[in-house]
Amino acid sequence: MSVSTLDLAMEQALILAAIEVRENAYCRYSHYQVGSAILTESGEIISGCNVENAAYGSTICAERNAVGAAVAKGQRVFQTVVVATQDGQGYPCGACRQFLNEFSPDMRVLTVDPKGNVINRTTLSTLLPHAFGPQNLGT
Ligand code: THU
Repeated sequence: MSVSTLDLAMEQALILAAIEVRENAYCRYSHYQVGSAILTESGEIISGCNVENAAYGSTICAERNAVGAAVAKGQRVFQTVVVATQDGQGYPCGACRQFLNEFSPDMRVLTVDPKGNVINRTTLSTLLPHAFGPQNLGT
């Protein structure tokens, strides 16, 4: 299998993971389901969904849940994040962009719909230019 075929297969697996985890979204207030899947440097797929709360501000986005799960597994370098929403138009919110930037400023970002169509393909540094990050603190 060539490298590009492998990459494509990985991307398909990542998209599927984001679509599947979206089904578990706990979104009783907004009814807006979000699924996110991250491909780590080591080729692992780690996913998360949004989890809302009666105290609305305590809600956690799908992407930040996926990042938290990845970090808990010892993974801190990410190649790609896929965000699955009802129409594939949902990009990571500002807070999630910042959260992702902490670990991998140049990672790929894909938005997909529930059928697996890729609606947008971009990079985090495009979505969050001039990001404030660890380098600003000299760490
Ligand atoms: N949401 C995400 O999970 N990710 C984003 O990047 C944007 C918003 C969730 C939070 C909330 O549960 C619902 O979508 C509506 O804002």
